[in-house]
Amino acid sequence: MIPTLEWTAEGVRFLDQTRLPLEETYVLATTSDQVADVITTMVVRGAPAIGVAAAMGVALGVKNSSATTLPALTSELEAIAKTLASTRPTAVNLFWAIERMRGRFFALAAQPGITLDAIKAGLIAEARAMYDEDIAACRSMGAHGAALMPASGGVLTHCNAGALASCGYGMALGVIRAAVERGHQLHVYADETRPFLQGARLTAWEMMHDGIPTTVLCDNMAASLMRQGKIQAVIVGSDRVAANGDAANKIGTYGVAILAKEHGIPFYVACPWSTIDLATANGDAIPIEQRPAIEVTHHGGKQLTPHGVGIENPAFDVTPARYITAIITEHGILRPPYTEALRGLEVEAAH
Ligand code: MRU
Repeated sequence: MIPTLEWTAEGVRFLDQTRLPLEETYVLATTSDQVADVITTMVVRGAPAIGVAAAMGVALGVKNSSATTLPALTSELEAIAKTLASTRPTAVNLFWAIERMRGRFFALAAQPGITLDAIKAGLIAEARAMYDEDIAACRSMGAHGAALMPASGGVLTHCNAGALASCGYGMALGVIRAAVERGHQLHVYADETRPFLQGARLTAWEMMHDGIPTTVLCDNMAASLMRQGKIQAVIVGSDRVAANGDAANKIGTYGVAILAKEHGIPFYVACPWSTIDLATANGDAIPIEQRPAIEVTHHGGKQLTPHGVGIENPAFDVTPARYITAIITEHGILRPPYTEALRGLEVEAAH
């Protein structure tokens, strides 16, 4: 399995995604600040992966604490949580994971006679459980979603919603993997995904790692390929699904969804329950991260644009629910109308 991130006795080990596909190197974060840094700099990226990374960051920061009283440890926990929560604003998994770790801390702290060491051990166990649950959720999404994939043909994906964006197996790419394991003859078309090139660098690397036939295309080629009949389905991940089914994902996803509709191609979103944000009414309320201009102005250290030109670099866009054929989660497949489907799933997920 692709070792996206891993808890070790020395700290949290990350496969450095900024160096893929040409170099397979690792970064060891030994403090929670270093975990925050690897999330901000996108050494680790992808909504479920940054959620679990943040959980491990909380566990690591609390483990490293020299506090000798519960109030002192609690204030350290809150500082660690605040730093990790300030790394990236769009993926709700990050906040979900931090809240779950805070909840576990306070549940442990409320146990009569518990020691600080036992709280620390409990937080490490919680973060590791989240890692295992994430892989299980991906496998379950794969099992549910495989039947939606064509028996044969082209499947377009945007960005990387794979093992590299999770703890293993992946969401959109997990569904593709599961379909291939069940005998579907799929060819993956990976949008290069300007400006950070998650498709060209990461999806292509990950699919080739598993021997799944893959072609990279520039983002502006998707319409033409659809028109030529090369694409039978589109599947992407999401960083946050609002209560009405609007889904934020990597910039460019919205355009792909419109193209899919125009060409009569199904457009699927695969994401775990931790990506669903019922507290956010619709996509307009999803915070969109603005990334540094240099990601657009430069490539490989070389400047591409004139000095002083204006630059836009929103990292995500929102695909309105009406473009989404189905949402694949670990609990099953949701179909429109999503407001009702998501509410029903909330009840089911609680059991
Ligand atoms: O900026 P990134 O690389 O973290 O963005 C990742 C994506 O947009 C993925 O498609 C998303 O996290 C989906 S994974 C369920």
